[in-house]
Amino acid sequence: METVIVVEDIIKRYGDLAAVDGVSFEVYEKEIFGIVGPNGAGKTTTIECIEGIRRPDSGGIQVLGLDPHKDRKQLLPRIGVQLQEGAGLPERIKVDETMRLFASFYDDSLPWQSLLDVFNLSEARSRYYDRLSGGQKRRFQVALALVGKPDLLFLDEPTTGLDPHGRNRFWQYMREYCNSSRSIIVTTHYLEEAQDNCDTIAIMDKGRMVARGTTSELLAAQQIDTRVAITTASPLDVATLLALPKVTHVRQDGNRSEVFGLGSDLHRVILSHLEEKDIAPLKMETRGATLNDLYLLITGTEYSENGGETCE
Ligand SMILES: Nc1ncnc2c1ncn2[C@@H]1O[C@H](COP(=O)(O)OP(=O)(O)O)[C@@H](O)[C@H]1O
Ligand SMILES: [Mg+2]
Repeated sequence: METVIVVEDIIKRYGDLAAVDGVSFEVYEKEIFGIVGPNGAGKTTTIECIEGIRRPDSGGIQVLGLDPHKDRKQLLPRIGVQLQEGAGLPERIKVDETMRLFASFYDDSLPWQSLLDVFNLSEARSRYYDRLSGGQKRRFQVALALVGKPDLLFLDEPTTGLDPHGRNRFWQYMREYCNSSRSIIVTTHYLEEAQDNCDTIAIMDKGRMVARGTTSELLAAQQIDTRVAITTASPLDVATLLALPKVTHVRQDGNRSEVFGLGSDLHRVILSHLEEKDIAPLKMETRGATLNDLYLLITGTEYSENGGETCE
């Protein structure tokens, strides 16, 4: 598989703060590579370094075999970058005028009218940019990034503010887009969305990439595929739970214990342990482990999905 992005140990500081603190990874052709993590984790800084918008203090970056700074001219026609809110577009320009203008920059562009359809913007085509709702602006910015038919697409929180239907449509389109030898690097603070739609997921926390792989690789590396939540009259002993076969992690909050491990019969192991100790659980619930569980276990902090924005 061809490598389209190589990032080697990049560091980017703002004063004393290392916004990106030694991050390395590769992105491959046809891949949807998702960077997830809470606000302030360093996701935007990382992708802006790769886009060539920011320059890391140290480390190396190659994009489509080129240097994002030195080879900027060669690279620009081959990449698509989603504009950030408030960055760049004049307010008094209409949706269709902007699409036509952007399409004219490229020798080979996607038919922009159909892009407006895909992103549910056809009815807003003659509206001024500043009259669009938050979600419409976001969809429009993604459509603009796509119009030049880039080999590599950079999207920064493209689904924030979209309703569930808009999200589904978005991800479906992105999957089809990647099938024709293109790649997408996308950030999101929705772990579930990354789990459902990205081929590779990189989890960032405090400037570092704390885990990377497919969802099943990530879960397997931590040896969790099942979660059993148990509520009891008084707290269970964590060390005893950890000593049980198949149990790999325990999170406890008062009388509620979350036990993680490998194997769908994890709940049976726990049940027989409780029976032995003559403890009757008040509530017991078993399900497959998720990326959200993994995130909590490896960072030790609750994941906030509140990006401060609401759906349309
Ligand atoms: N231009 C800047 N000047 C100073 N600090 C910045 C700048 N850009 C980002 N930061 C800080 O770097 C950290 C990472 O930010 P960012 O990459 O935007 O994270 P994310 O996209 O994951 O929310 C944050 O603490 C943020 O406040
Ligand atoms: Mg960001």
